[in-house]
Amino acid sequence: MRIAVIDEAEAKAQIGSLAEILMQSIEDGALVGFVLPFSAEQAQSYWQEVFSSVAEGERLLICAYLEDKLVGTVQLYLSPEPNALHRAEVYMLLVHRDFQRQGIGSALMASVEDEARKRTRSLLLLDTAEGGASERLYRRMNWREVGVVPHHFVDPFGKPRASIYFMKHLTP
Ligand SMILES: CC(C)(COP(=O)(O)OP(=O)(O)OC[C@H]1O[C@@H](n2cnc3c(N)ncnc32)[C@H](O)[C@@H]1OP(=O)(O)O)[C@@H](O)C(=O)NCCC(=O)NCCS
Repeated sequence: MRIAVIDEAEAKAQIGSLAEILMQSIEDGALVGFVLPFSAEQAQSYWQEVFSSVAEGERLLICAYLEDKLVGTVQLYLSPEPNALHRAEVYMLLVHRDFQRQGIGSALMASVEDEARKRTRSLLLLDTAEGGASERLYRRMNWREVGVVPHHFVDPFGKPRASIYFMKHLTP
């Protein structure tokens, strides 16, 4: 497996794979900001906004490849506020459904920590759906629970779901 921080040009070349992974995760019920029905056009327009943010240097787009196939992705948003330059937020950890439970999600999160450290970001934040694979993964990687927000979102099928905020302090 290869993990890389990708630039706008590589991201644009991978838009088909990124859109596919996002659409799959929504079909599978992930709380990633969207509800069904969700079209390929919506997926591509979401990624175009991410690519603009990458080009502006606001966020890192980190991807996992098996051979040359993109099989997972995560984003690290570098908080721009002058009083929060030590902080970053993790978004959209997604692994292709055919390649889950092989350690790719964990490897992407380990890379998030490395990239944050390189940029002297020592506090990481994220929120995720209560229950299921992502909560388990973050706990295993020693993220600390901050709190649960009941009915924070609805899932892609419209069902109310709680989410959990997690934080992690990085030591240099
Ligand atoms: C969450 C996700 C990224 C994990 O990716 P992955 O490559 O499977 O991650 P890993 O293989 O490193 O670890 C998965 C962990 O979740 C567990 N797991 C996997 N599927 C699970 C399930 N349905 N229910 C409970 N635990 C599950 C695995 O057992 C493993 O934990 P363990 O190593 O402690 O046993 C992937 O399931 C995914 O893309 N889900 C849909 C999108 C999503 O919900 N993203 C989170 C947004 S914050």
